Amino acid sequence: MADWNPALYTRFEEERTRPARDLLRRCEFPLDRPFEMLRIADLGCGPGNSTALLAERFPGAAITGFDTSEAMLEAARARLPQCRFALGDIAAFEPDDPFDLVFSNAALQWVLGHRTLIPALMRQVAPGGVFAAQIPDNLADPSQVAMREIALEPDFAPLLAGDVERREAIGTREDYYDWLSAAGRREVDVWTTIYNHPMADAQAITDWFSSTGLKPFIDPLPDDLSERFKARYTQEMDRRYPVRADGRRLLAFPRLFMVARKG
Ligand SMILES: C[S@@+](CC[C@H](N)C(=O)[O-])C[C@H]1O[C@@H](n2cnc3c(N)ncnc32)[C@H](O)[C@@H]1O
Repeated sequence: MADWNPALYTRFEEERTRPARDLLRRCEFPLDRPFEMLRIADLGCGPGNSTALLAERFPGAAITGFDTSEAMLEAARARLPQCRFALGDIAAFEPDDPFDLVFSNAALQWVLGHRTLIPALMRQVAPGGVFAAQIPDNLADPSQVAMREIALEPDFAPLLAGDVERREAIGTREDYYDWLSAAGRREVDVWTTIYNHPMADAQAITDWFSSTGLKPFIDPLPDDLSERFKARYTQEMDRRYPVRADGRRLLAFPRLFMVARKG
């Protein structure tokens, strides 16, 4: 997949950061230490929008954002010089010392094998610490179904074989509850929120997903076909998200949240 595009991603920054705020609100944990002693990891930190919330909430804490995208890390470093940012793959996250808070907003869906990943991340949480993550829960939504259907059209199918089912590995709410609560004394909270984002038009929905969910579909295509894929997608968004009373489209976006406190 091509590298991420921080500028395109931050076009909808407010909407994308809202779930991170909601997740952070549930990250209260018994703090018997000053913030300066806390170690916090932001996995898949992107351009630093989620990391900025952590820095604001826990001033003085040692915060490290990890990401596999150099472009995203560069944007994050420019934005938050007081935090540390490091190249790091969530799938291989094995720090020398555990973190008091392992936080991840809208990133774990890019990593396969959650049955083993979630317990592995939980092992990196210090005693008394918290694991908190949010992932999109929208695979059955028109915005995602349309991508998979267009990928099967004759123009695109020969070039996309193998890529289209990539995100199917995400578990159910019950799976995450089980994976987080299985070992040890843990307090686990799993919930879903559906955000409804008013979007200017069908093209705006395409723009939203161009920097995220559409990437596995359009990145492998040559430029002309990538543009054609996006044009087909915009047609489908126009059809599947009807115009509302104010002329805009309402993009429903379900998201799954999980917070686990280590006893
Ligand atoms: C949708 S962005 C989320 C950014 C930010 N956390 C937020 O709250 O908006 C997903 C980020 O995960 C990163 N990412 C994807 N796969 C990754 C992996 N295996 N390890 C680390 N980061 C990854 C991407 O580079 C991207 O910056």
